[in-house]
Amino acid sequence: MKRMTVMALAGVMVLGSFQIGTAEEADCKAVARARKMGEMLDTLYKNAIVLITTHYVNEDTDLAAGDAFQALFKVMKEKGYHEVRLIDASGEPYDDDNTPRKGFEQDAVKALLGGAKTYEKVIKKDGKQYLQYATPVPVVMDKCIMCHENYRDVPKGKPIGALSYTIPIE
Ligand code: HEC
Repeated sequence: MKRMTVMALAGVMVLGSFQIGTAEEADCKAVARARKMGEMLDTLYKNAIVLITTHYVNEDTDLAAGDAFQALFKVMKEKGYHEVRLIDASGEPYDDDNTPRKGFEQDAVKALLGGAKTYEKVIKKDGKQYLQYATPVPVVMDKCIMCHENYRDVPKGKPIGALSYTIPIE
């Protein structure tokens, strides 16, 4: 009898240790999940943009993958999943709307141009937490230069742009 009580108690304690973590632990895990979401989206968007550019964009009058993806990004934002902006890091954007905004975007571009692999920040907006997460966009193929003449002399590997995500931390 006594032994069973001890075992049951131990069981509750084990269960408890799985169910109740500290607030910091929960926060940390939530941020890690948001970051993983960012990594997944980044792989998806970049590969899709490169595939489309490789196979469907042949002249400078064709719809640029960058343009098509602005429409896709708008849908994802309207659905409330996340926000993402394709921004310029070359100083000469094709579209002025893609100039990095003051604050996170400008800080991110500075860090990425300095060689950082990613740049991130946790923010609070209207009582909700978000992970701001940015990754570099390098010139991956000659075709890019067809429309972005200013990429011609950029050293290999140096970012000319960035993807800037705002992902809800849930
Ligand atoms: C067919 C022409 C075309 C090609 C090819 C092209 N782009 Fe673009 N790119 C555009 C247009 C148009 C925009 C502006 C999209 C918008 O915001 O509406 C743009 C926007 C961008 C931006 C956002 C900053 C800015 O300049 O406005 C980056 C970064 C970018 N492109 C990178 C690339 C890379 C890297 C490649 C090669 C994989 C590439 N582009 C190929 C036409 C092109």
